Amino acid sequence: MRSDKSTLVKAALATVLGILSVPLAGSTEAQAQGAAQLDQPFPAYNPYPPLPGSVPPTVLPPDLQSEVLRVRREVQTIFGRYFAEWQALTPPTLTGQPPTLFPTGYDAVRILGGLLNFDENMSPFQNQACSFCHMPYAGFSGPIPSVNLTMVAYPGTFRDRAAKRTAERYTYSPYFAQLQYNQTQNLFFGGNFWDGRATGYKLQSADAEQAQHPPVDPLEMGFADTASIAFRLTSASYRQLFELVWGADFDIRWPANTAEICGIPQGARRFGGSPTPIALSPTDRTKANNIYDHWGQSISFLEHTNDVSPFTSKFDCAQAPTPCYTMTADEMAGFNLFNAKATAIRATLTADPRC
Ligand code: HEC
Repeated sequence: MRSDKSTLVKAALATVLGILSVPLAGSTEAQAQGAAQLDQPFPAYNPYPPLPGSVPPTVLPPDLQSEVLRVRREVQTIFGRYFAEWQALTPPTLTGQPPTLFPTGYDAVRILGGLLNFDENMSPFQNQACSFCHMPYAGFSGPIPSVNLTMVAYPGTFRDRAAKRTAERYTYSPYFAQLQYNQTQNLFFGGNFWDGRATGYKLQSADAEQAQHPPVDPLEMGFADTASIAFRLTSASYRQLFELVWGADFDIRWPANTAEICGIPQGARRFGGSPTPIALSPTDRTKANNIYDHWGQSISFLEHTNDVSPFTSKFDCAQAPTPCYTMTADEMAGFNLFNAKATAIRATLTADPRC
């Protein structure tokens, strides 16, 4: 049954999209296939087999499989740290009017964001969290050196596919405004993503809406339906924390085939291109959508905290009321240039209608 399903999914996907594969690394093919089994429920398919005598032997880095597994272990470790933080947290209670979570509400929301961001269950094969492509020690960008030097884009949940661009660093991304057009300067500002397509118009936060794209991006986490997030959260080990923060209503009548649909990446022929293959009543769809909004908001909150955006650069320290860093003469010269001549040049350029 399992291999039938895998074959079906694979065949369907292979026809729908261009396929990029994780190569079989390791000393023997059997060993490599064993490793691949740990990562996705069928052996990897490599359309670029090693060419005899060519260097490098394939267009993909030979250590890709082992590196993917290394990053997964790190993601799981950090998830475990956030989980332990939650266990150790004095639970906040609703206090005051309007009621707010006090006195540990801030940490409760931050920890929830961390758990969501590092939860591998938020992908069909339960093998990919957001952070897989955005690790803290790589400035919240891609953490695999050989990938950064070769394919640049990172494999998604379906390892035979890779995302389209380099993973953007997301420090300070919650500070970007909603996408807007400045009439005076004839320029667009704000939004998230390289092209600003997460506008922030609905949630009034471009960053929160950004977090709603990867779960249903076929090249990233790859769910077929946004309701998959609500479904996976119903059985999450930290569901209680989600409910504490949002009071979310998980009382949704899930169709019998929901778990199966959540386990199949977007693009499979059986979905017929539908963005909502999980058949929910209008009321239940609204509940799932609200949970999806809260998912985006929680993750954005994490990115707003010191865990991701700490304002501790040399520049921030030099500008602090009690400076914790003194700029070198060269750095100071650059700063003066920025404030004087460079600013003047920029003003001229932005006033020029050709720019
Ligand atoms: C497969 C790799 C991958 C995964 C998984 C992934 N991202 Fe990204 N991320 C990217 C890429 C690539 C971009 C740039 C894409 C673009 O601009 O089209 C990006 C862009 C972003 C940005 C935009 C930053 C800015 O300044 O505009 C944020 C924020 C972000 N990701 C957060 C997340 C979150 C939250 C998740 C999980 C819900 C996630 N990413 C999952 C690869 C990934």
